[in-house]
Amino acid sequence: MRAKITATGSYLPRKVLSNVDLEKIVDTNDEWIKQRTGIEMRHIAENESTSELAAKAAEDVLNKSALSSSNIELIIVATVTPDQPLPATALFVQNKIGAYNAFAFDINAACSGFVYALSIANAYIVSGMVKNAIVIGAETLSKITDWTDRSTCVIFGDGAGAVLLERTEEDKGILSVVLHADGRYTDLMMVPAPGSKMPCSKKAIENGDIYIKMKGNETFKMAIRSIASVSKEALDIAGMDFKDVDWMISHQANKRIIDGVARRVGLEGERSIITIDKHANTAAATIPLAMDWAVEMGKIKEGDIVLLNSFGASLTWSAAVVRW
Ligand code: UT7
Repeated sequence: MRAKITATGSYLPRKVLSNVDLEKIVDTNDEWIKQRTGIEMRHIAENESTSELAAKAAEDVLNKSALSSSNIELIIVATVTPDQPLPATALFVQNKIGAYNAFAFDINAACSGFVYALSIANAYIVSGMVKNAIVIGAETLSKITDWTDRSTCVIFGDGAGAVLLERTEEDKGILSVVLHADGRYTDLMMVPAPGSKMPCSKKAIENGDIYIKMKGNETFKMAIRSIASVSKEALDIAGMDFKDVDWMISHQANKRIIDGVARRVGLEGERSIITIDKHANTAAATIPLAMDWAVEMGKIKEGDIVLLNSFGASLTWSAAVVRW
């Protein structure tokens, strides 16, 4: 028994912020952003919450599927920008799409969140606990971005991507998943408040502790090697090699990281899906957004081998091999 991705969906907020727009906000320029990150624009959720983005991506999935919301048995939302600390964003999504027969919860594995969530849904399906699941990566990073810090505000964007996983007897779907975490590096990327360590306070707001802090350079250095090695682990389990991969969908954090991984494993050019130019880094949402884009563009086709890999705070890294 396997869990197969039978539909993909996405949603991007209407407002677009270009690099030139950012030049008016912080001391940056279009050329630096494009050269150092590959980003040309990002979408910004002005009056929408993460669950609104997530629900629209889930509705897009359902519109492309034979199932209706009442058939859905599990909803997982991977996010670092929940609507509120309590209850889970997945509950708001459930209510918005009317999937009242599903159980629902959130997970936080930062930018690796989607692959982590996929692995959980896969385990529930393969064990026979559920027949299907909607897995969503959704973020409104603009709401935890310090718009005075040019080292972070040029990188992030908002959006949501989703997939429907269904039980199948075919040799298709998720062939392998590998997850890693290393809590020795929690200082590389964080949002210090509000939380039990630093509750909401005027001081936390004044110090900017409610925004993303990132040691970009150090994170960058660890990314390429980790993504390449976890990808090899996942391919080994699936009994495959990089030459068997039709498409690689990497977490879209920096085009130089994606290209570096692609060079290292011999998947350069067309076979590496790139959406960072238009979506920027949307954390848990980048992989499902890129996946839906690649499917809609007619790139990924039935039977293709798709390698997913990601790297995120602080630190998590993961990979999955999927036969479409
Ligand atoms: O999403 C999962 C986890 N996150 C990541 O994987 C992110 C990984 N890191 C990165 O993508 C890159 O480190 C960044 C894009 C964040 C930064 O790029 P970089 O090439 O590592 O830049 P840097 O921090 O080494 O800075 C180089 C220079 C500095 O100037 P000096 O000191 O050389 O004069 C910065 O002050 O670029 C300057 N700089 C900028 N200049 C224009 C930094 N940010 C900007 C900016 N515009 N936005």
